[in-house]
Amino acid sequence: MRKNIVAGNWKMNTTVPEGVQLAKEVCEAVSAAEGLKCDVVIGVPFTHLTAVKEVIDINKVGLAAQNCADHTSGAYTGEVSAAMVASTGANYVILGHSERRGYYNESYEMLKTKVDLALENGLKVIFCCGESLEERENGSFKDVIGAEIRDSLFHLTAEQMACIVIAYEPIWAIGTGKTATSDQAQEIHAFIRGLLAEQYGAQVADDTTILYGGSCKPSNAPELFAKPDIDGGLIGGASLKAGDFMGIVTAF
Ligand code: PGA
Repeated sequence: MRKNIVAGNWKMNTTVPEGVQLAKEVCEAVSAAEGLKCDVVIGVPFTHLTAVKEVIDINKVGLAAQNCADHTSGAYTGEVSAAMVASTGANYVILGHSERRGYYNESYEMLKTKVDLALENGLKVIFCCGESLEERENGSFKDVIGAEIRDSLFHLTAEQMACIVIAYEPIWAIGTGKTATSDQAQEIHAFIRGLLAEQYGAQVADDTTILYGGSCKPSNAPELFAKPDIDGGLIGGASLKAGDFMGIVTAF
């Protein structure tokens, strides 16, 4: 049975003390909540990983980096390797976010390498995909999403796929206040699950958690999460306040 997950993506927000405080609040709220129907993960800046790990119970709140390097180690000034991320005690890494693909030119090939390095180091991957507004409007969106998934993930074995969470994030819905309708999101989630079934069979497809991301908030989360193929969310803006984030966590 696949897991429901609500994951926060703090992006480049909060200082270390602010992040530690937010992480504490989330962990306390998760610990106090009864009968939660999802796993909770927070995706924090690299600088915060060690300090946040100290104040959370990793069995209650998973910890994600938002990126890792496409090399193992060495002369790559400013980069942070998957091994370094894992050594902080983090158990997840977000890869392929559209902001990284768009602003930092992350290619399918580069992401394939990052995925491999993350898995080699025992990290679970939240792998993001999604189309731009132009691709949505010109009808190429399924081709784009299909290529993103195929070219960076389909070299993996079925066993490795168990460590992959997919996040569908239409770029036009990220930080814009424009959410995909629950029907639009469900259509793509079912499409992604179909791709997984073709490549790996029904069992792997059925077991893979597929998150929706893009202006997800407490008010629209219940409708999105009620869809059969939407297994939770990757939450940007609304993950920066413990109250809003918990409003989504409890939406199942
Ligand atoms: P948003 O961001 O919730 O602020 O739209 C989602 C994301 O980019 O992961």
